[in-house]
Amino acid sequence: MTDAFINWISGPVLRAKANKSFRINEAVLVGEKKLLGEVIRLDHDEIVVQVYEDTTGLRPGDPLNGTRSELSIRLGPGLLGNIYDGLLRPLDTQGRYVETGFDQKRGDQTYPFTPSLKIGDSVKPGAVFGSVQRSDARSQRALVPPNLEGEIVELAETGCYTEDQVVCTIKRPDGELHEISLSHRWPVRKPRPVTTRLPVEGPLFTGQRILDSIFPLGCGGRAAMPGGFGTGKTVLQETLAKWCDADVIIYVGCGERGNEMAGVLHEFPGLEDPLTGRPLMERTVIIANTSNMPVAAREASIYTAVTVGEYFRDQGMRVALMADSTSRWAEALREVSGRLGELPSEAGYPAYISSRLADFYERAAHVKTLCGQEGSLSIIGAVSPPSADFSEPVTTHTKRYTRCFWALDASRAQARFYPAVHPLLSYSQDSDVLADFWNQQGNPQWPKQRRRFLTLIEEQSRLERMARIVGKDALPPRQQHILLCAELINEAFLRQSAYSPIDRFCSPAKQIAMMRIIINFISLSEAAVNEGVSVERINDLPVMRRIRRMGEEIAENQLDDFKELMRNMEAEFTHLSEGVISNAS
Ligand SMILES: Nc1ncnc2c1ncn2[C@@H]1O[C@H](COP(=O)(O)OP(=O)(O)OP(=O)(O)O)[C@@H](O)[C@H]1O
Ligand SMILES: [Mg+2]
Repeated sequence: MTDAFINWISGPVLRAKANKSFRINEAVLVGEKKLLGEVIRLDHDEIVVQVYEDTTGLRPGDPLNGTRSELSIRLGPGLLGNIYDGLLRPLDTQGRYVETGFDQKRGDQTYPFTPSLKIGDSVKPGAVFGSVQRSDARSQRALVPPNLEGEIVELAETGCYTEDQVVCTIKRPDGELHEISLSHRWPVRKPRPVTTRLPVEGPLFTGQRILDSIFPLGCGGRAAMPGGFGTGKTVLQETLAKWCDADVIIYVGCGERGNEMAGVLHEFPGLEDPLTGRPLMERTVIIANTSNMPVAAREASIYTAVTVGEYFRDQGMRVALMADSTSRWAEALREVSGRLGELPSEAGYPAYISSRLADFYERAAHVKTLCGQEGSLSIIGAVSPPSADFSEPVTTHTKRYTRCFWALDASRAQARFYPAVHPLLSYSQDSDVLADFWNQQGNPQWPKQRRRFLTLIEEQSRLERMARIVGKDALPPRQQHILLCAELINEAFLRQSAYSPIDRFCSPAKQIAMMRIIINFISLSEAAVNEGVSVERINDLPVMRRIRRMGEEIAENQLDDFKELMRNMEAEFTHLSEGVISNAS
């Protein structure tokens, strides 16, 4: 018997008269083509459904059937290295569907499984019952689904199995037998359980100086990356996806332009991990939901992504999720809400936008997993506020739920100053905790140095306003000196090209060496100015050019060159003050 019949359709939303009871968030199959949808509202005998596929051709009277389960995805060892749509259906590198349908069976690929428990063992939810060795050397764990426990009554031997083959049978305490394979399904809107949430410890190291050294993000933390049109959000998200030190990267292209996503799909498979030398794609899951794909699927895509992220976190891995852009996701929410006739709130977004953003960001955490490991999921969400207005609802609500705010600035981007993170508009609430990391890396002075940099940049913005009125040359030497130091911090340290093979990734040791050079420059030049040397002469020192370009010129395997640079700088300053002293005498 058909469960319901459609009686009203508007774009991705439809109403249907139900012959049976449905549950909220139940997945449904709509029409003859069995399009996937989800119940989002119940109203007496009528249900409201959002459909994740193109609804063209559907008409009133078409059948609709429930699936009796929530909208869920299949999580297993085959996820890594592939590209999916917002509901985790595989796409090829051109962004086309490999196969349609929603069963999400993963084909015939087999994975070598080795059991780590034995028959008769009792298992708790989320326990590890074996390991899965992938051909690319990235080993994963076979997990008991988080909602299941009992005694193992059957267990496969070491061998190769597909993701769908049964490898373990568990007898639940109530006597019911439950078969599990290397993969299991999990509802996308439900956070996967953990033992405890832990405080942030180390950073998610990104290799980007302005982030790691100035506005660091803790592992398991959340960052917002708001920026107007063309300020470099996508390039920065991709840079992080390439170089950050997570074990697994989930990259969600959410409502971005198709050709931009095609760039990612084309570029990623050819990239190498700078840390391991292996293909980057091996640790990456790409979820592509371009602007031409159905709007409701875009709404689901970030929950899909975060669920995939939690699955790897539960294996004891460090996971980083990049979402580009959450504003396009919020627009999808607005469109569906508009079609439902809901009362709009700020800027037309539904009133629940804030809680939905919270649901998403709250799933980032550093945790003790059910199987006792430590794992983390960090989320970095790009926001594209219209007219770069950071007071619009998506940006302000995102700000409430994130600890790092990396504001991309249009005037920096226009000056081709990348990454265009504005040092005065951005902040990191994780920086105090992460001082320990820099201490372990050999730089106990980091908090002081960081504060010095930020203070100088703040003074620069004040002095520049003044300089615009009176002219730069009219400023006293000490103030001109502040301007020179701030300019050097910007130019030599904060600026970093994503396209330079040497500069695109900066290790902790290189960041420390660069920071030291600048800090030393500040003191030497300050002393020189106090002795009466003009700022102009300091700026003309030959070493200045080298300092400005040190990021791009000194490669990771030549870090000793920083020592030489430091010696050269000190020698030139000694020379300068000797000149002043001899002039004076
Ligand atoms: N870190 C960088 N290094 C060098 N160039 C960059 C960098 N970031 C951005 N750019 C330049 O700026 C251009 C626009 O960047 P991008 O597409 O990332 O902006 P966006 O904020 O994602 O834009 P949109 O709002 O349209 O999505 C890039 O094509 C590139 O030329
Ligand atoms: Mg973009």
